[in-house]
Amino acid sequence: MIKPIKISPSILSANFSKLGEEVIALEKAGADFIHIDVMDGHFVPNLTIGPDVIKRIRPLTKKIFDVHLMIAPVDNFIKDFVNAGADIITFHPEATPNVSNTINLIKKEGKKVGISLKPKSSIGLVEKHLEEIDLVLIMSVEPGFAGQKFMPEVLDKTKKLWEIIKKKNLKTEIEIDGGINFENCVEAKKAGANILVSGSTIFKENNGDLKKNIGILKTSK
Ligand code: DX5
Ligand code: ZN
Repeated sequence: MIKPIKISPSILSANFSKLGEEVIALEKAGADFIHIDVMDGHFVPNLTIGPDVIKRIRPLTKKIFDVHLMIAPVDNFIKDFVNAGADIITFHPEATPNVSNTINLIKKEGKKVGISLKPKSSIGLVEKHLEEIDLVLIMSVEPGFAGQKFMPEVLDKTKKLWEIIKKKNLKTEIEIDGGINFENCVEAKKAGANILVSGSTIFKENNGDLKKNIGILKTSK
Protein backbone atom coordinates (compact mmCIF):
# COMPACT_ATOMS: atom_id res chain seq x y z
CA MET A 1 0.00 0.00 0.00
CA ILE A 2 1.38 3.40 -0.94
CA LYS A 3 0.52 6.12 1.52
CA PRO A 4 0.52 9.75 0.35
CA ILE A 5 3.33 11.72 1.99
CA LYS A 6 2.22 14.78 3.96
CA ILE A 7 4.45 17.50 5.37
CA SER A 8 3.57 19.10 8.69
CA PRO A 9 5.91 22.06 9.33
CA SER A 10 6.41 22.83 13.03
CA ILE A 11 5.85 26.50 13.80
CA LEU A 12 8.17 26.13 16.78
CA SER A 13 10.94 27.22 14.38
CA ALA A 14 8.94 30.13 12.97
CA ASN A 15 9.60 33.76 13.86
CA PHE A 16 7.02 34.28 16.62
CA SER A 17 7.09 38.07 16.12
CA LYS A 18 5.32 37.48 12.79
CA LEU A 19 3.64 34.17 13.37
CA GLY A 20 0.59 34.98 11.25
CA GLU A 21 2.69 35.75 8.18
CA GLU A 22 4.72 32.59 8.74
CA VAL A 23 1.58 30.44 8.79
CA ILE A 24 0.31 32.04 5.58
CA ALA A 25 3.75 31.51 3.99
CA LEU A 26 3.69 27.82 4.97
CA GLU A 27 0.31 27.38 3.32
CA LYS A 28 1.59 29.06 0.13
CA ALA A 29 4.72 26.90 0.23
CA GLY A 30 2.70 23.68 0.06
CA ALA A 31 2.42 22.53 3.67
CA ASP A 32 -0.22 19.85 4.18
CA PHE A 33 -0.67 20.44 7.91
CA ILE A 34 0.51 23.06 10.39
CA HIS A 35 2.23 21.34 13.34
CA ILE A 36 1.74 23.18 16.61
CA ASP A 37 3.89 22.12 19.57
CA VAL A 38 2.29 22.84 22.92
CA MET A 39 4.60 22.48 25.94
CA ASP A 40 3.91 23.05 29.62
CA GLY A 41 7.31 23.17 31.35
CA HIS A 42 6.25 20.11 33.34
CA PHE A 43 5.69 17.19 30.97
CA VAL A 44 8.63 18.55 28.96
CA PRO A 45 11.29 21.07 30.04
CA ASN A 46 10.13 23.95 27.82
CA LEU A 47 7.20 26.34 27.47
CA THR A 48 5.65 27.29 24.15
CA ILE A 49 2.21 28.42 23.12
CA GLY A 50 -1.36 27.84 24.26
CA PRO A 51 -4.91 27.96 22.90
CA ASP A 52 -5.12 31.77 22.72
CA VAL A 53 -2.30 31.95 20.20
CA ILE A 54 -3.80 29.12 18.14
CA LYS A 55 -7.15 30.93 18.12
CA ARG A 56 -5.46 34.05 16.65
CA ILE A 57 -3.80 32.20 13.77
CA ARG A 58 -6.85 29.99 13.04
CA PRO A 59 -8.62 32.46 10.69
CA LEU A 60 -5.48 32.86 8.56
CA THR A 61 -5.52 29.43 6.94
CA LYS A 62 -7.76 26.47 6.18
CA LYS A 63 -4.87 24.05 6.61
CA ILE A 64 -5.26 21.25 9.13
CA PHE A 65 -3.98 22.25 12.57
CA ASP A 66 -1.97 19.30 13.82
CA VAL A 67 -1.72 20.03 17.54
CA HIS A 68 0.91 18.10 19.49
CA LEU A 69 0.17 18.36 23.19
CA MET A 70 3.15 17.85 25.48
CA ILE A 71 1.21 18.72 28.61
CA ALA A 72 0.11 16.74 31.65
CA PRO A 73 -2.50 16.10 32.81
CA VAL A 74 -3.96 16.61 29.36
CA ASP A 75 -7.72 15.99 29.74
CA ASN A 76 -8.72 19.35 31.22
CA PHE A 77 -7.26 21.21 28.25
CA ILE A 78 -8.80 19.22 25.38
CA LYS A 79 -11.84 21.47 25.12
CA ASP A 80 -9.69 24.63 24.99
CA PHE A 81 -7.71 23.28 22.04
CA VAL A 82 -10.88 22.19 20.27
CA ASN A 83 -12.34 25.68 20.70
CA ALA A 84 -9.08 27.22 19.52
CA GLY A 85 -9.40 25.37 16.20
CA ALA A 86 -7.35 22.18 16.45
CA ASP A 87 -8.17 19.55 13.81
CA ILE A 88 -5.92 16.76 15.05
CA ILE A 89 -5.12 16.47 18.75
CA THR A 90 -2.16 14.29 19.67
CA PHE A 91 -1.28 13.48 23.27
CA HIS A 92 1.25 11.33 25.10
CA PRO A 93 -0.09 8.24 26.90
CA GLU A 94 2.02 9.12 29.96
CA ALA A 95 0.06 12.39 30.26
CA THR A 96 -3.27 10.82 31.16
CA PRO A 97 -4.48 8.33 33.78
CA ASN A 98 -6.75 6.70 31.19
CA VAL A 99 -5.79 6.66 27.52
CA SER A 100 -9.22 5.45 26.31
CA ASN A 101 -10.95 8.28 28.16
CA THR A 102 -8.73 10.86 26.54
CA ILE A 103 -9.31 9.34 23.10
CA ASN A 104 -13.05 9.52 23.68
CA LEU A 105 -12.89 13.12 24.89
CA ILE A 106 -11.24 14.14 21.62
CA LYS A 107 -13.53 12.02 19.44
CA LYS A 108 -16.63 13.34 21.14
CA GLU A 109 -15.58 16.77 19.86
CA GLY A 110 -15.38 15.41 16.32
CA LYS A 111 -11.60 15.82 16.11
CA LYS A 112 -8.94 13.43 14.90
CA VAL A 113 -6.84 11.69 17.54
CA GLY A 114 -3.14 10.93 17.68
CA ILE A 115 -1.05 9.21 20.31
CA SER A 116 2.61 10.12 20.56
CA LEU A 117 5.43 7.81 21.58
CA LYS A 118 8.63 9.30 23.02
CA PRO A 119 11.83 7.62 21.79
CA LYS A 120 11.85 5.18 24.71
CA SER A 121 8.08 4.60 24.86
CA SER A 122 7.06 1.21 23.54
CA ILE A 123 4.52 0.22 20.90
CA GLY A 124 2.65 -1.60 23.67
CA LEU A 125 1.36 1.77 24.92
CA VAL A 126 -0.55 2.32 21.72
CA GLU A 127 -1.17 -1.13 20.22
CA LYS A 128 -4.59 -1.83 21.70
CA HIS A 129 -5.80 1.65 20.72
CA LEU A 130 -4.78 1.51 17.05
CA GLU A 131 -8.35 0.81 15.88
CA GLU A 132 -9.68 3.90 17.65
CA ILE A 133 -7.11 6.50 16.65
CA ASP A 134 -6.14 8.29 13.44
CA LEU A 135 -2.39 8.44 13.85
CA VAL A 136 0.63 7.51 15.90
CA LEU A 137 3.25 10.22 16.28
CA ILE A 138 6.70 8.69 16.69
CA MET A 139 9.10 11.09 18.41
CA SER A 140 12.57 10.86 16.93
CA VAL A 141 14.03 13.22 19.55
CA GLU A 142 13.22 13.66 23.23
CA PRO A 143 10.28 16.07 23.18
CA GLY A 144 10.97 19.63 24.32
CA PHE A 145 13.07 21.48 21.78
CA ALA A 146 13.46 22.12 18.08
CA GLY A 147 16.81 21.57 16.39
CA GLN A 148 17.84 18.30 18.04
CA LYS A 149 19.54 15.36 16.37
CA PHE A 150 17.41 12.58 14.87
CA MET A 151 17.56 9.28 16.80
CA PRO A 152 17.85 6.50 14.17
CA GLU A 153 16.91 3.83 16.71
CA VAL A 154 13.25 4.83 16.40
CA LEU A 155 13.16 3.60 12.80
CA ASP A 156 12.90 0.02 14.01
CA LYS A 157 9.88 0.88 16.15
CA THR A 158 8.34 2.68 13.17
CA LYS A 159 8.79 -0.41 10.99
CA LYS A 160 7.26 -2.70 13.60
CA LEU A 161 4.31 -0.40 14.06
CA TRP A 162 3.75 -0.18 10.31
CA GLU A 163 3.78 -4.01 10.10
CA ILE A 164 1.11 -4.22 12.81
CA ILE A 165 -1.03 -1.58 11.10
CA LYS A 166 -0.77 -3.38 7.76
CA LYS A 167 -1.51 -6.77 9.29
CA LYS A 168 -4.63 -5.41 10.96
CA ASN A 169 -5.62 -3.64 7.74
CA LEU A 170 -6.04 -0.31 9.53
CA LYS A 171 -5.96 3.24 8.19
CA THR A 172 -3.91 4.54 11.13
CA GLU A 173 -1.21 6.87 9.82
CA ILE A 174 2.33 7.19 11.13
CA GLU A 175 3.78 10.64 11.75
CA ILE A 176 7.41 11.18 12.69
CA ASP A 177 8.67 14.20 14.58
CA GLY A 178 12.12 15.48 15.52
CA GLY A 179 15.37 16.11 13.68
CA ILE A 180 13.95 15.25 10.26
CA ASN A 181 16.28 16.36 7.45
CA PHE A 182 16.69 15.77 3.71
CA GLU A 183 18.56 12.49 4.28
CA ASN A 184 16.74 10.75 7.10
CA CYS A 185 13.32 11.63 5.65
CA VAL A 186 13.94 8.87 3.11
CA GLU A 187 14.59 6.31 5.85
CA ALA A 188 11.55 7.49 7.76
CA LYS A 189 9.32 7.00 4.71
CA LYS A 190 10.79 3.56 4.04
CA ALA A 191 10.06 2.61 7.65
CA GLY A 192 6.39 3.46 7.13
CA ALA A 193 5.99 7.06 8.23
CA ASN A 194 3.82 9.12 5.87
CA ILE A 195 3.45 12.38 7.79
CA LEU A 196 6.75 14.17 8.34
CA VAL A 197 7.06 16.96 10.90
CA SER A 198 9.91 19.38 10.43
CA GLY A 199 10.87 22.67 12.02
CA SER A 200 14.56 23.45 11.58
CA THR A 201 14.97 21.91 8.13
CA ILE A 202 11.97 23.74 6.68
CA PHE A 203 12.73 27.13 8.23
CA LYS A 204 16.54 27.14 8.02
CA GLU A 205 17.83 25.13 5.04
CA ASN A 206 18.33 26.87 1.67
CA ASN A 207 18.11 30.28 3.37
CA GLY A 208 14.63 29.48 4.61
CA ASP A 209 13.14 28.70 1.19
CA LEU A 210 9.98 27.10 2.59
CA LYS A 211 8.64 25.89 -0.74
CA LYS A 212 11.89 24.30 -1.80
CA ASN A 213 12.42 22.61 1.58
CA ILE A 214 8.87 21.26 1.81
CA GLY A 215 9.20 20.01 -1.77
CA ILE A 216 12.45 18.15 -1.07
CA LEU A 217 11.07 16.52 2.10
CA LYS A 218 7.94 15.49 0.27
CA THR A 219 9.48 14.02 -2.87
CA SER A 220 12.84 12.58 -1.74
CA LYS A 221 12.99 8.85 -2.30
C1 DX5 B 1 9.88 18.61 19.74
C2 DX5 B 1 8.72 18.95 18.83
C3 DX5 B 1 9.04 18.93 17.37
C4 DX5 B 1 10.14 19.85 16.97
C5 DX5 B 1 10.52 19.62 15.53
O1 DX5 B 1 9.41 18.39 21.02
O2 DX5 B 1 7.67 18.04 19.04
O3 DX5 B 1 7.86 19.17 16.62
O4 DX5 B 1 9.81 21.18 17.14
O5 DX5 B 1 11.57 20.47 15.23
P1 DX5 B 1 12.87 19.96 14.45
O6 DX5 B 1 12.41 19.56 13.11
O7 DX5 B 1 13.75 21.14 14.46
O8 DX5 B 1 13.43 18.80 15.24
ZN1 ZN C 1 5.83 18.05 17.67
